[in-house]
Amino acid sequence: MAEPLGIGLVGCGTVGAGVAQILLNHPDRLAARAGRRLELRRIAVRDAARPRPVTLPAGLVGTDPRAVLTDPTVDVVVELVGGTTVARTVVLDALAAGKHVVTANKALLAEAGAEVFEAARAAGRAVCFEAAVAGGVPIIRALGESLAANQVTAIQGILNGTSNFILTSMAEGGMTYPAALAEAQRLGYAEADPTLDVDGSDAAHKLAVLAQIAFGVAARPDQIERHGIDTLDAQDIRFASELGYTIKLLAEAWTGASRDGGREVALHVAPVLLRHTNLLAQVRGAFNAISVHGDVVGETLYQGPGAGMMPTASSVVADLIDLAVGRAQATFAAARLWSREGKGFVVEPVERVRSRFYLRLTVADRPGVLADITRILADEGISISSVVQHEAGEAAKEPVPLVILTHTAETGRFRTALRKMAALPTVAAPPVSYSMGD
Ligand SMILES: NC(=O)c1ccc[n+]([C@@H]2O[C@H](COP(=O)([O-])OP(=O)(O)OC[C@H]3O[C@@H](n4cnc5c(N)ncnc54)[C@H](OP(=O)(O)O)[C@@H]3O)[C@@H](O)[C@H]2O)c1
Repeated sequence: MAEPLGIGLVGCGTVGAGVAQILLNHPDRLAARAGRRLELRRIAVRDAARPRPVTLPAGLVGTDPRAVLTDPTVDVVVELVGGTTVARTVVLDALAAGKHVVTANKALLAEAGAEVFEAARAAGRAVCFEAAVAGGVPIIRALGESLAANQVTAIQGILNGTSNFILTSMAEGGMTYPAALAEAQRLGYAEADPTLDVDGSDAAHKLAVLAQIAFGVAARPDQIERHGIDTLDAQDIRFASELGYTIKLLAEAWTGASRDGGREVALHVAPVLLRHTNLLAQVRGAFNAISVHGDVVGETLYQGPGAGMMPTASSVVADLIDLAVGRAQATFAAARLWSREGKGFVVEPVERVRSRFYLRLTVADRPGVLADITRILADEGISISSVVQHEAGEAAKEPVPLVILTHTAETGRFRTALRKMAALPTVAAPPVSYSMGD
């Protein structure tokens, strides 16, 4: 059997402890898959005295990441600190020290991917990151390797388990957003500060990573339009449901031809209405799922646990096995991710994407209101597919919700119509709208 692969862990929290557990509990299984043993040789954490859910061999744990990076018996550094400061230094220094890197850090890749991958190429080393998107779901390998014969044409993903858990509780348990969030926190699905999960930032980081692999674009954070579930009103979930739709927080990429004959991709993260029968609409709780359309294969779907100790560790250890076998090095060199070459796509705003729309207006219950709204939509070339207005009592003076579903329209023109509707004196609150999938 070949020489063992020496592994150093920087960070041994939720995911790191899971990785240590697999390495320590299943050495023979891993050796059989990798053709050599995977040996955990050094670990750095912030607080060495902190109790951990795994018993680590004596003498392995310290608090100085440099001790891991400079250990000549360590071949691969696994960065599981998170964030973009300490993690960035650890990754760049590990590569400079001639180590391969495995990371689960989507924020680092989204923000410093170009720098990290250039450093890896310069050092002749590989960076593996299967765990960075959708935890235990092997979407990075699917996109980068299994679908390599295709040009991906569209991606739709539920990439944030916390948001999906909250949306499921709101849709099935009739909860308000604050109550569903509190429940997610109580069960450990949401952090004490859930902002990055519920405002769409976490899903946008993951979409940026997927877009790099599928389209060769390095999307800046401001190129991914982002709306979270934190402003979602329970009444929209109810109205959508009555009309046959489920609301999901989706990360979406659409491709098309640009006006100058090139290829463009538009990216967004937003709540989207999906028909109840759509498979993504049926993904419940903290699960993740991604639908990928390839020009050769058609639609493929991937689903599974998108976070958590063991699912995420499962992906990290798969990367370690690929490095031990030598596959990851070959794939990394061929993929040329975050390089200047790209795949000929440019990132465009979503304005030209065509979609159906859900629109909820809060309107005065007066004659002529609907006529004003349909005229504005017609002026922008948008036709209505259905209108629902719950009957107000004869004496009702309060504004009432008016829900409209449109036929397919260009996003830019729909937004122009929204601005005009918001200015109508009979529209009593800012219009609420979401795009609609199939
Ligand atoms: N948790 C998930 O389900 C999940 C899923 C997918 C991806 N990820 C990604 O995986 C990464 C790790 O997440 P996690 O949930 O495992 O985080 P975590 O539980 O907070 O663990 C972070 C670890 O980093 C250590 N650390 C922090 N600062 C350090 C420093 N300056 N030097 C050395 N060690 C330091 C901590 O040490 P102490 O233990 O001593 O505090 C801890 O062991 C993140 O990039 C995250 O986005 C997580």
